[in-house]
Amino acid sequence: MATVSEKDSVTGVDTTGHEWDGIKELDNPLPRWWLWIFYACIVWSVGYWVLMPAWPLVSSYTKGVLGYSQREILIEELAAAKAGQAEWLNRIEAATVDEIRADPQLLEFAMAGGRSAFAVNCSQCHGQGAAGFTGYPNLNDDDWLWGGTPEQILHTITHGIRNTEDPDARWSQMPAFGKDGVLDRARIVEVVDYVMALSGQAHDANRAEAGKAVFAEQCAACHADNGTGNIELGAPNLTDAIWLYGGDRAALTESVANARFGIMPPWGSRLDEATLKQLAVYVHALGGGQ
Ligand code: HEC
Ligand code: HEC
Repeated sequence: MATVSEKDSVTGVDTTGHEWDGIKELDNPLPRWWLWIFYACIVWSVGYWVLMPAWPLVSSYTKGVLGYSQREILIEELAAAKAGQAEWLNRIEAATVDEIRADPQLLEFAMAGGRSAFAVNCSQCHGQGAAGFTGYPNLNDDDWLWGGTPEQILHTITHGIRNTEDPDARWSQMPAFGKDGVLDRARIVEVVDYVMALSGQAHDANRAEAGKAVFAEQCAACHADNGTGNIELGAPNLTDAIWLYGGDRAALTESVANARFGIMPPWGSRLDEATLKQLAVYVHALGGGQ
């Protein structure tokens, strides 16, 4: 390889003196624009090291004089989001449930908040979709034990049902007609047949006829003369096909003989007012709220 530099006869440019198999390398300078961008990058990177977090050190890193931190920015953004929410939550706290429902924006916010509060606090008993389980009512239907207006629902959620923690809890107790010796076995069989008749199920007509009298005497005070229930007492409607504990003969006999005692904890002591109202709005909207 020759290392003699000479002028290229075709382009008039100096060669570098490198030559391979007769092909010579021209000594063209780097383009100006490229060179200036290169220098600018060097200057910029030095400025960047000074201003911004850049170099890793043994146990930390160079923080830069601007003190930029993505973590700080995230914390600030979260605080701002919370402050934005606080404004909504304050409005919800100040409004009645009906006022929240009348304001489309508040309603939207409350529904979202209610949905997530329900998933956290309520779904373990009422189910993820609020469809309930045996003993835990379905909240999607328009059949309400304790009333389905937004205010009634708010009261139920706030104070709970048959718990001893909250003096304002909804309360009632069906007698255990068999266990407490109020009705003998035959009367229980009869009244169960009558309840099966009320709810349109196959039944023994003679026993149901006898059970009608038992019902009027022992049950109508709470479940109403025609068996449609009473929300003042949380006494279920026995004429629809919606059962809290089951509508077959065995389940009905168990309900009458031993009674049930469904308990729901109060939420007024656990959740703040805005959350309670959001839950009431959400639960009301789930089903045929009244
Ligand atoms: C520990 C289980 C449990 C949890 C948790 C629970 N509930 Fe209940 N809930 C019940 C039971 C049991 C009943 C029915 C009690 C009865 O027989 O009257 C009930 C009834 C209700 C009712 C009345 C339904 C009606 O037909 O009148 C509403 C409304 C309700 N729950 C909402 C909620 C909300 C909202 C939450 C979450 C904040 C919640 N529940 C959490 C057990 C629970
Ligand atoms: C003091 C009021 C009261 C009286 C009296 C009463 N009940 Fe009840 N009954 C209730 C309440 C309250 C419930 C709901 C219990 C619960 O959720 O813990 C209930 C629940 C039931 C259920 C279960 C309903 C379901 O959806 O699973 C049946 C069945 C029933 N009662 C039948 C009767 C019959 C039959 C009589 C009369 C022999 C009677 N009850 C008398 C208050 C009463």
